Formats: sequence, structure tokens, C-alpha cells
Amino acid sequence: MTASTVSYNIMAAGNKKIYTFRTTEHLARMLTKKIRNMVKDSIISGRSFNIALSGGSTPRILFEHIAKSYGDQEIWENVRFYWVDERCVPPDHQESNFRMVNEAFLRHLSHSGKHVFRMMGEVDPQAEADRYSRLIRNQLPLRENLPAFDLVLLGMGSDGHTASIFPDQMQLLLTDRLCKVAVHPGSGQKRITLTGKVINNADHIYFLVTGREKAKMVAGIIGGGPEQEKYPAAHIKPRRGTLEWFLDDAAASILQLLKHPGFHSFNN
Ligand code: 6PG
Repeated sequence: MTASTVSYNIMAAGNKKIYTFRTTEHLARMLTKKIRNMVKDSIISGRSFNIALSGGSTPRILFEHIAKSYGDQEIWENVRFYWVDERCVPPDHQESNFRMVNEAFLRHLSHSGKHVFRMMGEVDPQAEADRYSRLIRNQLPLRENLPAFDLVLLGMGSDGHTASIFPDQMQLLLTDRLCKVAVHPGSGQKRITLTGKVINNADHIYFLVTGREKAKMVAGIIGGGPEQEKYPAAHIKPRRGTLEWFLDDAAASILQLLKHPGFHSFNN
């Protein structure tokens, strides 16, 4: 295998694809190329590329890889950076999603920074959720009267949450509000989050999930376990776009045992 070869396995069912990789490094390499290609396509077709970014540890690996591989390319000015969710803390706080994305990614890119639209965790959460709702409604192309991102990058917690939509706040999946205030069920920390209808209106949704501790939830949600409806991540189903899961072997370890009849595997 050469240094640039990426080894993965793919399963497909309907508009959903599940990629599994031997290592997170391989996962990051493949995603980096896919995202770079999407950005280049947007430049060729003369439109901005609107991406919504998540926090958490898994996206960080990807962001560092993109910055290292293509940070100096003259393509980033065409990208408009938004956030899926933010913790209600100042932007220099250890837990700030903006801080993580900026440190791992944005500050290494060749761009002016004028297309970075962070959620402000340091101001009144309700006012910020309202401001961000207006911002995305005004700046993004609308489809069925809802903002349509080109790409939404999501993580998933081992409790089945995604964005800052937790299992005890399922109403955030159905609300007509574009952004809402959420509360972390363990710490009580307030968050600002995009809501389910906006996420599901995206052209492409990528879930990035790694680690054995998430294997059971991954198998339940992708494999269609009986209890899956209880978990927010199971409700991420793009209305028109595509849904792709990027897993390492550890996160996919139980799913791979299921041999779900709807899935077809190809080795590359
Ligand atoms: C956050 C998120 C959240 C995250 C998942 C997975 O701010 O915490 O945006 O939805 O993506 O909790 O996080 P990990 O990759 O760290 O497990």
C-alpha cells in the first residue's frame, strides 16, 4: 500500500452509504479529498460552498488533516463556514467549538476569515439562537423555504445525540425554528444548535464516528435496531440530499457482525 492509498470498506443502501476505515488517519485522508473536491466543484460552478461544522474530538482529526494537506490552496475564500452547534462559553474557552475549529483548521487556511460565521457562545443564548436563525436564512440558498447547506458535518455521542440535540430534547428535531437553545443533560451547559429540519435540508450530511464505545449505538442506528427511534441521530435523514457515515473499524465493529440484508459491501 502506498502512502496515499486509503483502505476502506463501503456498504450502500438507498441514499445512504457507510464507509469503514482501518484507522482514523485513513478516514481523515478520504474525507479531506472529498471535501476538497466539493469545494473545487463549487468554484467551477461559480457559487459559494456553505459548510456547517461540528465540535467534538472526531472532527478535529479531520480538520487538522485538511489544514495540513490543503490549507495553503487558494480555494478557501470560496467557503462559508458555519457551525452546527456551540457551547455557551466565550470563544477562547477550552470547551468552545469555535476555538477547536479555529485552532485545528481555520487559522491554518489561506483565506481572509471574512466568511467565518460563528455562533456566539458568550452572549444571551436565546438572542443568539434568534440571530443565527436570521443569519442563515438571509445568507444561504433556500429550498422549500429552509436554508440549504452544501455540507453538514456531524458527530454522534454514545447516547445517540447529534449536533446538540439530546435524547431528552427530541422536539428540536421537529421544531420550525432554525436554531434553538439546548441543554446538555449531564452538565446542564446551555448550547446553541441547528435543529433537525435545517440539518435534514442539506445537500450532503456526513457523520464522523470513531471509537469502540460508540459501536453499539452505531449498530442500532444504522442497522435499524428496535429502539433506534429514541435517538436523535436516527432521525437524520436528508429530504433530498445524501447521508454518508464515516466510521473507523472500532465504531463499526458490531455493525459489521449484523450482515444487514439491505447493505451491500465492496472492498477497495
Ligand atoms: C459538540 C458536538 C457534538 C459532537 C458529538 C461527538 O459540541 O459536542 O458538536 O454533537 O459532535 O458529541 O463528539 P465526539 O466526537 O467528541 O465524541
